[in-house]
Amino acid sequence: MKVWYRIRQWFMAVMIGIMTRQPKVIKGSGSLVKIADNLEKTGKKKVFIVTAPVFIEWGSLNGLLDALKAKGIEATVFSKVATEPTIELVTEAFGEYKKAGCEAIIAVGGGSVIDCSKAVGALAVSRKTIPQMRGVLRILKRLPDLYAVPTTAGTGSETTAAAVITDTIDGKHYKYAVNDFCLIPRYAVLDADLTLTVPAKITAATGMDALTHAVEAYTNDFASNMVKTRALDAVSLIYKNLPAVYENGQNVEARDNMLYAAFEAGIAFTTNFVGYVHAVAHAIGGLYGVLHGEACSIVLPYVMEQFGSKIYGRLAELADAAGVAGATEEEKAKNFIASIREMNEKMGIPSKVEKLKKEDFDEIISRAIKEANPLYPCPVIWNKKDFEILLNKLI
Ligand SMILES: [Fe+2]
Repeated sequence: MKVWYRIRQWFMAVMIGIMTRQPKVIKGSGSLVKIADNLEKTGKKKVFIVTAPVFIEWGSLNGLLDALKAKGIEATVFSKVATEPTIELVTEAFGEYKKAGCEAIIAVGGGSVIDCSKAVGALAVSRKTIPQMRGVLRILKRLPDLYAVPTTAGTGSETTAAAVITDTIDGKHYKYAVNDFCLIPRYAVLDADLTLTVPAKITAATGMDALTHAVEAYTNDFASNMVKTRALDAVSLIYKNLPAVYENGQNVEARDNMLYAAFEAGIAFTTNFVGYVHAVAHAIGGLYGVLHGEACSIVLPYVMEQFGSKIYGRLAELADAAGVAGATEEEKAKNFIASIREMNEKMGIPSKVEKLKKEDFDEIISRAIKEANPLYPCPVIWNKKDFEILLNKLI
């Protein structure tokens, strides 16, 4: 069974290596406004902007709207994405996109806004409905140019090939993913000015989410040189800048570096997946409503510890990137894990999952195994017993 998992994972790694691509980066303070120059250069006259109501309220888009107007580019703003997008919302947005005859999309917001924009782009080029796109490689067409502008530094949705859409059937909500390389945004616009107002708690959780992406992609089997380089750089940037942005949210340079770290970590996990930390964090998040990044940061040190000596070498390399010392590989690996715990503690992230209940173990384990095996190339393949050991440490 485990041999079959590894063959499948190796095959996936080869396929992704061939098919994936990376967004072009427009970065630095004020880069949101630069989208107008790029649209002009690429000859686009009508653009569709997807965002959340709060960014209209705060006037975050005013500079961009002025720049578009000055260049004679017509903008249609859709600002109804407050939570995870439903099929109805995506259909409504696409209706407006089509009515205005738009040729490109700008997504300013978190994962929900970017996912909604990806789905609108997919509807613009495919004859399929969203439910028909569910699964893997069901679109296979070039989307209109999508500019993804993340407003938190963590999720990496500006780099990913997936959109999560909520479907409602008989009053029940089902979340499912549309996965296709053509959903990877054409441009990632990393403008720190948009992240200055993110509160410290969210900064901490999203930053640790990015760290988890980098660490899981790096410690997984089959990490390519590109994945390793991106992940090491992300870890180095996060260790240097996350404590600084947590202390002072107005530190533009550190915010800028965190956005780039989250982008690089996003590239790493889009190519080499996440692992059991995410599988367990998704189950805990779904059952108890724990913030995704917070769930990841609590679970991360325990999972790395439980993988044991198999990953001492890989963790020691991450320790070097983080500036964490140690005399041997084993010592560096253990010190790196300890440094994650220390960072959590400094940012007020607990060391256990407070709401976790023993009676939910079976449900969490079955969800985690369903998500992770055989898809994620985790360094050690776990069964039910291994997850039980982990959950007993988290309670
Ligand atoms: Fe994540």
